[in-house]
Amino acid sequence: MCGITGYIGFREAKPIIIKGLQRLEYRGYDSAGIFLFDGKKLNVSKTKGKVADLEKILENKSTKGNIGFGHTRWATHGVPNDINSHPHTSQSGKITIVHNGIIENYDTLKKELISRGYVFQSDTDTEVLVNLIEEIKKKHNVKLGKAVQLALTNVVGAYAIAVFDVEKPNELVVARLGSPIAIGIGKDNSEFFIASDASPFIEYTKNAIYLEDEEMAVIKLNRDIRIRKIKSDSLVKHDIQELTLSLEQIEKGGYDHFMLKEIHEQPKAIIDTYRGRMLPDEGLIKMAGIDDNIDRFLNAKRIIIVACGTSWHAGLVGEYLFEDLARIPVEVEYASEFRYRNPIITENDIVIAISQSGETADTLAAIKLAKSKGAFVFGVCNVVGSSIARETDAGAYTHAGPEIGVASTKAFTTQITVLSLIALKLGKENGSLSTSDFRAYLHTMQLIPSKVEKLLKIDAQVKHIASVYKDSKNCLYLGRGFNFPVALEGALKLKEISYIHAEGYPAAEMKHGPIALIDENMPIFVIATNKGHYEKVVSNIQEIKSRAGKIIAIVTEGDVTVKAIADHVIEIPDTEEAFTPLLTTIPLQLLSYHIALMLDKNVDQPRNLAKAVTVE
Ligand code: F6R
Repeated sequence: MCGITGYIGFREAKPIIIKGLQRLEYRGYDSAGIFLFDGKKLNVSKTKGKVADLEKILENKSTKGNIGFGHTRWATHGVPNDINSHPHTSQSGKITIVHNGIIENYDTLKKELISRGYVFQSDTDTEVLVNLIEEIKKKHNVKLGKAVQLALTNVVGAYAIAVFDVEKPNELVVARLGSPIAIGIGKDNSEFFIASDASPFIEYTKNAIYLEDEEMAVIKLNRDIRIRKIKSDSLVKHDIQELTLSLEQIEKGGYDHFMLKEIHEQPKAIIDTYRGRMLPDEGLIKMAGIDDNIDRFLNAKRIIIVACGTSWHAGLVGEYLFEDLARIPVEVEYASEFRYRNPIITENDIVIAISQSGETADTLAAIKLAKSKGAFVFGVCNVVGSSIARETDAGAYTHAGPEIGVASTKAFTTQITVLSLIALKLGKENGSLSTSDFRAYLHTMQLIPSKVEKLLKIDAQVKHIASVYKDSKNCLYLGRGFNFPVALEGALKLKEISYIHAEGYPAAEMKHGPIALIDENMPIFVIATNKGHYEKVVSNIQEIKSRAGKIIAIVTEGDVTVKAIADHVIEIPDTEEAFTPLLTTIPLQLLSYHIALMLDKNVDQPRNLAKAVTVE
């Protein structure tokens, strides 16, 4: 994880870097640092804590400069403290580096460097890398770019790095393997920006280049960017991409938190995701990634979905959708388990990888494994141009817009939207759905955004429920069928931002163990919509009631039976069972948000987490 941003040009670098770090803080926020070059020497300031803490330190320093870079950290090697914070500087004090990723063979490299007289200040793998660069530069008498290139050929692991050398004061060197690097290009090459994503430089330029894996770039002020393959040394030419990201999209827009803004953006995000793809009046779903590969999808023996966290929960909803609507067998795998399990994959399998960030290391590794075994890999990503989007054979973007709150919300509902479209399309094409049913589904789907909008208005009711249960130590979430994954997702949302222990279970599994936990102090959130297994869930609710558990039920408007037994009910508008996850998840997101807020937790940046998990 970690976020990197930097600047070289004619403007004052410090405010650009600090603002950029604030925008990248979602990638890690346990320490922050900056280096500025004042024309003579490197000035490094760094601290444990957030970018705001770094800003306080900088208030007492007058350092200026038109070149610099900064880092916001999610610790891998070495606890978060001032010394382990980035940037790290080489022993001579001339070369400095920021790094996102992990150098796996750092210990061997460190021992070798110690034997050559290097002394290390920090516990990080990054300090090893900067000294390796220095050592190679000296030993081979080469310039910075070559030294970085040679050093990286000795490195095992993942990295996005930015490096500066006082002996080359008009250039920055960046490189990537497994972690992203975007380069923003100013007019006439008079300034360049670097960052883990384009958000830090969006108000300065819309022109950017994204490095591919195993590539490095030497960025020379007032000259050009030279990109080459690290191993083969061959030069590479990349097209300049025009960014569509806007400043408005990455700001809070009047909301107190990104999470709340993103919850409220869901009606629009769902529409943006199906716009141009779902055409109810024509009875059509058009998706280029599927249309271009329709034979593969229709002949697939099974679909394997790989993902992590919330995206894995969306994958579980996908399993119900594909099996129910298209009658295709599906397996849903944690990417981290799949990649290490020697899975059986054949050329007749389709692997669908789901990821908001498109950078999750385990998902990326699972994709590479599946491809090496001949499977066709289809990506469902939110971040355009991300590593997963590029690594997959075909795909469909969710159009959720930037998701900055660490707890995933609109990414989840838009992932389900894409999976619904694919399942409906395949169901129609393979004859599992009749034309009239297919059309009816499309018309029903079209009504979902307005139903989500309606649900967002029950905020006050959810807030009241949050106030009743905010001090609970444990919570259970139960659901069946399509809503079992929503129970898992509801529990994940609560635990990650409020730190209350919560478990999601298929409602019927409760009696095989978790029922032992139930007493008058245990709130149980039960999804009991009117379709599917309603009567069975009602029986489960009765079982909880007999053991004095507190029941908060999510029911369909007009419900009578559950209302009579539950302590609280939240009503959702009626819809097809297959689409209920798009509605039932909304009150659970709001509930977690309000509980976390009432407990005074950092909603957007929960402890120990980061938005893009680019390490295993
Ligand atoms: C939970 C959350 C994480 C991510 C997971 C996968 O709110 O955000 O569980 O869902 O780290 O991330 P992506 O979707 O970027 O691959």
